[in-house]
Amino acid sequence: MKLSRRRFVRGMGVTASSTLLPLSLFAQNQAQNELQIPALNAGEMQAGRQSYELQLQSGTSQFLSGLPTPTLGINGSFLGPTLRLKNGSDVAISVLNQLDEPSTLHWHGLHVPAKADGGPSQVIAPDETWRPSFTVRQKAGTFWYHSHLLNKTGEQVYKGLAGMIIIDDEESESLELPSTYGVDDIPLIVQDRRFNEDGSFRYVGMHRDVMTGVFGDRILVNGTTSAVFTPTTNKVRFRILNAANARTFNFALADGREFSLIASDGGFLEKPVALRNIVLAPAERVEIVVDFSDGGPVDLLSLPLEASSPYSTIGMMRNMLSVNTESFTILNIQPQSNLQRSTALPEKLTSISRMQEGEAARTRRFVLSMPMGMMRRGRGRGGEFLINGNPMAMDTINEVVPVGTTEIWEIYNDSMMMHPFHIHHGQFQILDRDGVPPSPDEMGFKDTVKVGPGQTVRFIMRFENFSDPDTAYMYHCHILEHEDNGMMGQFTVA
Ligand code: C2O
Ligand code: CU
Ligand code: CU
Repeated sequence: MKLSRRRFVRGMGVTASSTLLPLSLFAQNQAQNELQIPALNAGEMQAGRQSYELQLQSGTSQFLSGLPTPTLGINGSFLGPTLRLKNGSDVAISVLNQLDEPSTLHWHGLHVPAKADGGPSQVIAPDETWRPSFTVRQKAGTFWYHSHLLNKTGEQVYKGLAGMIIIDDEESESLELPSTYGVDDIPLIVQDRRFNEDGSFRYVGMHRDVMTGVFGDRILVNGTTSAVFTPTTNKVRFRILNAANARTFNFALADGREFSLIASDGGFLEKPVALRNIVLAPAERVEIVVDFSDGGPVDLLSLPLEASSPYSTIGMMRNMLSVNTESFTILNIQPQSNLQRSTALPEKLTSISRMQEGEAARTRRFVLSMPMGMMRRGRGRGGEFLINGNPMAMDTINEVVPVGTTEIWEIYNDSMMMHPFHIHHGQFQILDRDGVPPSPDEMGFKDTVKVGPGQTVRFIMRFENFSDPDTAYMYHCHILEHEDNGMMGQFTVA
């Protein structure tokens, strides 16, 4: 039809065609590779502490046949081991930086002292070792760690500085859930990447890579391209981490089957929630249990975000690729022929007491914006992505929260695209989105929340301890190119 063709062509002109990704690549027939499972690192007891030794290193990885890709990793050449921690235990971590550039390592979602948090002020210079220690005060769940270097988080995570953290507690150990790591308890670190012709990653190129965040045309799961997983049990628990820099995924099984959502960012939901799809923005995690009893193969997909979704991009940014417009495969799943029986899921997973608005000492408001001045090129770093009108400034503490208080944070998105808002220091509960209480899948603890264009999200959080007037925690958009270009702020708990 003429009209739509013309509009299509015009759209191509407005949006830079070289970054309009050929998403059909996802559908290309490629050899399948067995899903790699990151090594499990449960640490070693040393001087009364569970001790973990990590090294940031560079190397090469084989994602494209015959073409090596220069990458970064932790104790390996891409990504890092899955760190297994136990609630209540004293932990000591040493992080040796063997890169030729500074870095940091942040424990995303963990409630730790600001000095141990691994944010932009805990820089590890080349050849130096950073030794944070803390007591794990965290309900069981799926967390992660990643570089948090000022202005360079996106690039370092893109190259591979990220990994998963699994926390266990007495509750998780007593529940009858699939829990054999790598067998029926499977980490899925989902990322999209794009490549140069020489096999290297193609990170930020055009200005619009910064505006929408960097999108890729290849999916990596635990660093595996075209990954295939073979269930050996009829129920499998997947710990899904959206570790993409910018892409939001809408996960679903290809045949539309239901799965059980058992955990969100901060651990278990009170009881399993039956769903057919789940939208995860960068940094969000879920644990789901999928039943393969029928024995048939079924792919894990990402579906397009519905046009009516509150997280869709609006206005003049709508033509830019900042949400999924096609379905594509995340993981091929081909169950083996004789599946071991799994037990039925427990009806109750945990209890969560909802924090009451009345407990909050105050409400703080945060406005996320991308002023149109940023459409002009060459304005330099910062000043393009703002929180309350200001870009991130290393020498500014934006907020001081009195220790021991509970607060409501109200996040208003005054831009045309969704921003996943993340706060360090702890886990919160979502109160409402535009006044509407969250659906059951968002009733658990969270540390990252999707705020759609024009939306207001309110969450409530306890700032319990770790008073330190000199060391800041961060809050920011977890689209890493937004974070790196100013959409971040600092607060202390004092
Ligand atoms: Cu996942 Cu401030 O980070
Ligand atoms: Cu974090
Ligand atoms: Cu953002």
